[in-house]
Amino acid sequence: MIQAPEHSDRPNPESAYRPPAPKPQARPLKPLALLRTLKRNPLECWATPHFEQPIVAGGLPIGHVLLVHEPGAIRRVLLDNAANYRKDRLQRRVLSAGLNDGLLSAEGEQWRLQRRVLAPMFARRTVMDFTPAMMAAAEALIDRWSALGDCATIDAAAEMAMVTLDVVERTIFSDGFGSDAEAIRMAMATYFNTIGKISPLDILGVPDFVPRLSRFRVRSTLNFFESEVDRVISNRRRILAEQPRQAPNDLLTHLLGALDTDSGESLTEAEVRSNILTFIAAGHETTANTLSWALFLLSQSREWRERVEAEVDRELTGSADAGIADRLTETRAVIEETVRLYPPISAISRVALDDDALNGEAVRPGSLIVISPYVLHRHRRLWDRPDVFDPGRFLGNASATVDRFAYLPFGAGPRKCIGSAFALQEATLMLAVIVKNFNFQMRPGHAVWPSLRVTLRPANGLPMIIGKRSPGERSSNDVSHHELAARCMMDS
Ligand code: HEM
Repeated sequence: MIQAPEHSDRPNPESAYRPPAPKPQARPLKPLALLRTLKRNPLECWATPHFEQPIVAGGLPIGHVLLVHEPGAIRRVLLDNAANYRKDRLQRRVLSAGLNDGLLSAEGEQWRLQRRVLAPMFARRTVMDFTPAMMAAAEALIDRWSALGDCATIDAAAEMAMVTLDVVERTIFSDGFGSDAEAIRMAMATYFNTIGKISPLDILGVPDFVPRLSRFRVRSTLNFFESEVDRVISNRRRILAEQPRQAPNDLLTHLLGALDTDSGESLTEAEVRSNILTFIAAGHETTANTLSWALFLLSQSREWRERVEAEVDRELTGSADAGIADRLTETRAVIEETVRLYPPISAISRVALDDDALNGEAVRPGSLIVISPYVLHRHRRLWDRPDVFDPGRFLGNASATVDRFAYLPFGAGPRKCIGSAFALQEATLMLAVIVKNFNFQMRPGHAVWPSLRVTLRPANGLPMIIGKRSPGERSSNDVSHHELAARCMMDS
């Protein structure tokens, strides 16, 4: 059990805030109820034993399944014996629909080569160089919100999807999507809404050749994407060939110039295209959801709201340097705690190739191993007051007590998220800029509920009332956030 040390960063139990989450089922659901609940909201399937026991066997009608939430066993699956466990068909289909040549779904030698070639693009130094692009997207958001005037109601979830797409655009293709930008954005929305739907045929293990309606829709959207991305790539290749000094310093330029240091090989045309789509698919909605949940959690916690306000007033002055995100330690702790409580990717799954044993449980060839970061992060044996919002867990001495394999928002081992530093930096900066410039409060009467559709998002959006904040204003004095909401409701 992780015993978080008592220190002044921990909330007092009286004021501890427990954000909304489904109450675990008393016992694992029977197959029919399980299928129904999986279709409605997979998050509601989990039962008390999953949050209390290291490993629970069974559950789905698709063969031998182990639900694994014990750090030693997880380490074995994802790191020590990772060669025995490959990504399973369902996860690959859902997370990377259609992007077969990209890093997320590649396997074997193709994956190894791509990972080596792509790793430098997501190294700390390169990611820090994206600070100006991320700050520019944040400033554009502030301008847009400022134009709405006081007491505007926004859907924070939709706004975060827009701003993270803006970051994608500024960091991957810094010269923009071009004339069809709006059509691309709309296609992206259709794509994400469609890949979110898991067909019951998938859960029942019905073979791939049996058609699923949702895949036709994804395919036509992907065709559009692919042709648009090809157009952007060929423009960039021309610039790189004719005026290399004029080429923007963004991920696309890195991607087209990247070579494997061992073999001297570069990525094929199909791999370049698939990886661009993979970066958009894997990085856009995950970070948007992180930010949505962080805004919601801060709107509910006066203590942490004030701590972040004090930090951003101190640190965000003048133009931001590349190291600014590293100094925003409290803001970053809020993001880390957000992805503990609401991990955007809520299940990591693998199929065993050969016999193995996990914590004394036999693993057979074909066994499906499911690790849910959502369950792991709220496991009774692993966390102190697991359902309480407490960013102090990630500050100072307390953070050293977090077991590496009990906290998996970005996975672990060789297939750990390549974009984790990028995402943490982006979310930290964005949250800091928003808190610095705006008061925000949930619209009274709106019930917030987590819903799992590929990523973990707030069901029915996040309607928030926003108002301009002056530097130095604190939630506890000046206009409190509840007062803001009340005043705005009276005005409207
Ligand atoms: C808060 C944001 C993010 C979260 C929570 C997240 C989560 C994850 C997780 C859990 C995995 C591992 C899946 C597994 O082991 O089966 C993963 C892999 C991956 N992520 Fe992320 N991710 C985020 C942002 C990003 C960003 C910004 C990018 C790229 C721009 C990205 C690109 C990828 C790729 C390419 C992989 C596959 C890596 C490989 O298999 O080698 N992710 N992500």
